[in-house]
Amino acid sequence: MLYDNITVKDGKLFFAGMDTTLLAKKHGTPLYLMDEDRIRGNCRAYRDALKGCACPDSEAVYASKACSFAGIYKMIAEEGLCADVVSPGEIYTAKKAGFPMERAYFQGNNKTDEDIAFAIDCGVGYFVCDNFEELDVLDRIAGEKGVRQKILLRVTPGIDPHTYAEVSTGKVDSKFGVAIETGQAAEAVQKALSKKNLIFEGIHCHVGSMVFDSDVFLRASAVMLGFAAEIKKNLGAEIKILDLGGGYGVKYYPGQGEIDIPQNIKAVAKRVAELSEEYGLKTPSLRLEPGRSIVADAGITLYTVGSVKKITGYKNYVSVDGGMTDNPRYALYESKYTVLTANKADSPCDMTADLVGRCCESGDIIQPGVSFPSSIERGDAVAVLTTGAYNYSMASNYNRVPRPPIVLLRGGSDRVAVRRESLDDLLSNDIV
Ligand code: LLP
Repeated sequence: MLYDNITVKDGKLFFAGMDTTLLAKKHGTPLYLMDEDRIRGNCRAYRDALKGCACPDSEAVYASKACSFAGIYKMIAEEGLCADVVSPGEIYTAKKAGFPMERAYFQGNNKTDEDIAFAIDCGVGYFVCDNFEELDVLDRIAGEKGVRQKILLRVTPGIDPHTYAEVSTGKVDSKFGVAIETGQAAEAVQKALSKKNLIFEGIHCHVGSMVFDSDVFLRASAVMLGFAAEIKKNLGAEIKILDLGGGYGVKYYPGQGEIDIPQNIKAVAKRVAELSEEYGLKTPSLRLEPGRSIVADAGITLYTVGSVKKITGYKNYVSVDGGMTDNPRYALYESKYTVLTANKADSPCDMTADLVGRCCESGDIIQPGVSFPSSIERGDAVAVLTTGAYNYSMASNYNRVPRPPIVLLRGGSDRVAVRRESLDDLLSNDIV
């Protein structure tokens, strides 16, 4: 199986040790299941790798855009991770869940004046500043509130992470950050240092997502340390924190690339320490911002089959009760997934069909060309694996389809962490 939390017993698919067909009956479908021990285990792998690495006081920052709901902030706080937040919505959810906000990093390329004021009021620890305007406004609002705000500056190191274009963000022409290559990043540091209400703590970059090449973060570190050396030489400031962003890839289907994350982290930290020594800099503390690799393999989605359409001589469709509303990733990126028939998990797969959703749009494809048992019929349960990241967080109400619940599994018991949206929830903002 793709991951060791997925097993098959008596023809039924088990996830985190629990029978998925029973969970589908109990909670209804579509249904997001999340393996809490796997989330916690993934957090610990990062924490342990960073704890023993060559850069002092290094920490993992969970990129909560991958999957954001109150319970997850509580979990990651318990596991000792910081949180990357990108909107008042994520900030508010984290705060309400009791997350220690001084451990929150506020990202984003367009923080409004209201966002900035709200984040300061909520006690966000660090702003990851993206542009010149933000430095001006943050300094002003922090001053009005009598706060000196710690910041990192987001720069673009000009690294191509060899991943798909929509998630490649570290290149010079990116909408995020200020470019080192054009000299604008140095100007931005100078500006940050001149602001009396800002405390410049270091630099940040995020090269992209789904990174499997072991040298991507090594190359990024080299560029970032070179820039840190330039800052020291020209502006007399030293960075305390080097934040290399997130991006480690995960396996969605057999045969896909893999990367040993803890080993890569150690190698990156070692390179950062060596380069710091070479440049005569104090070794900075490292931050990494994993999102996908914390939650992706901790999630699966269950659906119920509604129709099996065999268009003789053309193609077959298996339609389910969810779709692009709960998983838009194929529609957006043609992302690949592994699909299993949860109640016929050891039946031979002798039929190919597109797994499609219920939305009124032909692009509502969860996965094309899936192998199913030809006995698949209405009422069967279908599981899409590795859906823990960027599924719930990117879900929509297109066609007024309510969002599915999230059920957490741990030690053989299941608990609803996000309840299913009701029809009344859909109407809750409407004024008639
Ligand atoms: N830090 C920053 C500043 C980011 O922009 C991101 C992701 C991360 C960390 C976490 O990256 P991860 O470890 O999850 O790769 N919706 C797309 C992914 C967009 C990623 C955006 N930024 C998808 O479904 O593949």
